[in-house]
Amino acid sequence: MSRRAADRIAWACCVVGLLLLVGCHKKPLEYQPTPYDLQIPKHFPTLLNIPADNPMTVEGVALGKRLFHDTQLGGYQGSDMSRRLSCATCHDRQHGYDVGPDNPRLQEGRPCGANGPTRHNALPLCNLVFNREGYLWNGAVSGEKNIEDIVLAAITAEDELAADTAEVVARIAADPEYREMFRKAFGTEAVTMDRIQKAIAQYVRSLVSANSRFDQYLRGETQLSEQELRGYVLFTTEEGADCFHCHGGAGTPLFTTNQFYNNALDATLAADNDRYSVTGDPQDIGAYRAPTMRNIAVSGPYMHDGRFRTLDEVLEFYNSGLQYSEYVHPYMHKLPDGGAHLTPSDIAALKAFLNTLTDEEFIQEN
Ligand code: HEC
Ligand code: HEC
Repeated sequence: MSRRAADRIAWACCVVGLLLLVGCHKKPLEYQPTPYDLQIPKHFPTLLNIPADNPMTVEGVALGKRLFHDTQLGGYQGSDMSRRLSCATCHDRQHGYDVGPDNPRLQEGRPCGANGPTRHNALPLCNLVFNREGYLWNGAVSGEKNIEDIVLAAITAEDELAADTAEVVARIAADPEYREMFRKAFGTEAVTMDRIQKAIAQYVRSLVSANSRFDQYLRGETQLSEQELRGYVLFTTEEGADCFHCHGGAGTPLFTTNQFYNNALDATLAADNDRYSVTGDPQDIGAYRAPTMRNIAVSGPYMHDGRFRTLDEVLEFYNSGLQYSEYVHPYMHKLPDGGAHLTPSDIAALKAFLNTLTDEEFIQEN
């Protein structure tokens, strides 16, 4: 073989090799979502509630965040901006992704969706990825059902966003920027309701709060005042205010067991979509999920029906307002006395402790 012929063959091999290389790499280059690195804070549960068919990715969370705040998800698209709703209308970051006591859409403790108030008060979206006991006040969403299902319900419910899913999909798909985000998150530009649900659920799961002053204190990064520490002791002792059986403490860092209790709010029981409506077990009459104490100072109004506007009202209830019924949970040890009957200075200490659970970083606008 002549030298020229050998050179030609060598060149041809190089070109074919390069083409092969490019060919092989083309597909993965197009669709390579980055796994989302969910940091599990120290002492938090390590079992996460993430469905196998919706792993979290950086691109999916970013898309979900944008959709969560987008009023194009609402049924009303008219010119009255106060009627344009998104998830963030009722789940406001500044209020720990709860509705907040000054929200203009509140009506008697419950947020008003597109066509009237919701049946219950809103819940804070915080550390939900660690909850494996059931979502909503009564835990109706559990097992096969997950946050993806809550997203669909919120978009379509008359008392929430009241939107038509086909119209939502069409509005989002009309935006080229969104289509590019769908491609990055799911591999193709196709906008579907299933993908919208998945992306928003990923974003909701990314909302982790574990940097309150109390956390910083546990990590040895800051000191708490004597009053705040006194409040913590009251919170976590039976002789004190006895809150920890249901709302946790340092050993239960979610500051809730995520279990369901009747906490003596009412003597007469107009069971309203309570835990009993899910289980049919009479022991669950008037029982609701114990909400987290994290960011509690900013996440009012309080209780499933939003009956208390301030923490002071809540503490007054636990101090002297307990209502007897046979359904009250045995953990409500102060029931026979009608409450904990703390001194005003102890109540102030308890409140000071609850205030240390606000995570400023989590609630700041970004
Ligand atoms: C009009 C107010 C309103 C809007 C808008 C709204 N929600 Fe909610 N959300 C609520 C209420 C009220 C609850 C509690 C319902 C219950 O348990 O009965 C809730 C509960 C939830 C929960 C369960 C939290 C838990 O701890 O169990 C999730 C998740 C959630 N909403 C996500 C969303 C998403 C995502 C959107 C947007 C697609 C949205 N919500 C829009 C009012 C609203
Ligand atoms: C037997 C369990 C139990 C005990 C003990 C208990 N709670 Fe609760 N707590 C609940 C339940 C359940 C709810 C929700 C009830 C409802 O909405 O109907 C709740 C609601 C609350 C809320 C309102 C949360 C929100 O987001 O709306 C606060 C604040 C609160 N509790 C603080 C305390 C404090 C402080 C103590 C101790 C003095 C205490 N709890 C003792 C079970 C308990």
